Amino acid sequence: MILSATDQMKLNSFWQYCLQHQYFNISYPESADFDYSQLERFLRFSINNCGDWSEPGNYLLNTFAFEREVMSHFAGLYRIAVQDSWGYVTNGGTEGNMFACYLARELFPNGTLYYSRDSHYSVMKIARLLKMRSQVVASLPSGEIDCNDLLQRIAANRGSAPIIFANIGTTLRGAVDDIADIRQRLALAGFARDDYYLHADAALSGMILPFVGSPQPHTFADGIDSISVSGHKMIGSPIPCGIVLARRRHVERISVEVDYIAARDRTISGSRNGHSPLILWAGLRSRTHEQWCRRVQHCLHMAEYAVSRLRQAGIAAWRHANSVTVVFPRPSEPLVQAFGLAASGHEAHLIAMPHHREPAAFDPLFDALIADRREQLQPIQVYAV
Ligand SMILES: Cc1ncc(COP(=O)(O)O)c(C=O)c1O
Repeated sequence: MILSATDQMKLNSFWQYCLQHQYFNISYPESADFDYSQLERFLRFSINNCGDWSEPGNYLLNTFAFEREVMSHFAGLYRIAVQDSWGYVTNGGTEGNMFACYLARELFPNGTLYYSRDSHYSVMKIARLLKMRSQVVASLPSGEIDCNDLLQRIAANRGSAPIIFANIGTTLRGAVDDIADIRQRLALAGFARDDYYLHADAALSGMILPFVGSPQPHTFADGIDSISVSGHKMIGSPIPCGIVLARRRHVERISVEVDYIAARDRTISGSRNGHSPLILWAGLRSRTHEQWCRRVQHCLHMAEYAVSRLRQAGIAAWRHANSVTVVFPRPSEPLVQAFGLAASGHEAHLIAMPHHREPAAFDPLFDALIADRREQLQPIQVYAV
């Protein structure tokens, strides 16, 4: 590959930019502490995982063997037998959510998709793409779905099967919907297990909850039908990726035979990135379960440190149990811009990730928040006088 001197300079300056900003991120849940240099050599191959990794295809440069191991690892984490489940490595959490909604819609063509006001924005896009009837359910102030509102809506649409999009860690507040409560209430309302579909959107928390002592219900053993997790979040990846895993019987319904690749396809895309399974495989294999527990504990400790440090300074910070997302009142716009904070309504958050190794990683933000708060308070104090 020959590039002009100008183009090389452009790449060099982008390289410097990346080096400078690789740990910029304090408000988005992207781990930045990975080192996949052992995989760099595979960038010279056009690897394509088109189709179903569990069956041989005629495109030989694939990473099906790695994808198989990745999916069986996740089946273990989310407590379902490999033979009862099927899933694949996606381009990210959104594709996994779309795949799950697609399965649910094929199961219940006249069903209604229920998601809370705190769900990730992409669920609206998915509902439109799949032309699914949908309803937005109220959230509690904590960010969890309001089960009373959910059940009232389901009762009002009795002829339409419920497809419940549960948040296992919301984007802004890290809230986990209580799927045990949802299932219990559905049972009391007369719904048998096969009368509804329950999807878990576990984009970030899917790689937190399996490693804590008292996780909120989030697995197949807790009654979910499918789960979607982002790979570039807690695991860390240079390329956005993720996984989706579902009960196998739901997937059989959507399989299509593709003659020219001599295989079956059950995925959303045609050609699929074959490097992501390698990355996830290496990311998962490079740590033992105990090391994953320690990694997660570290983030939880850092989040707890952030809450107490901000509270000591009079800033009303809080977080949910088992959440690395620390919520605090939205600071001034220049501060939001300066730190690239994810802010919505009256709130903003920081997310404690593995590359935040020392408490000092948060100090510039804390100092700025404390100074900002003094400035914000100034006019009010003057008014009060
Ligand atoms: C709760 C939740 N669901 C889904 C997504 C979408 O995931 P992705 O960006 O991997 O497509 C996100 C992303 O932040 C999220 O926070």
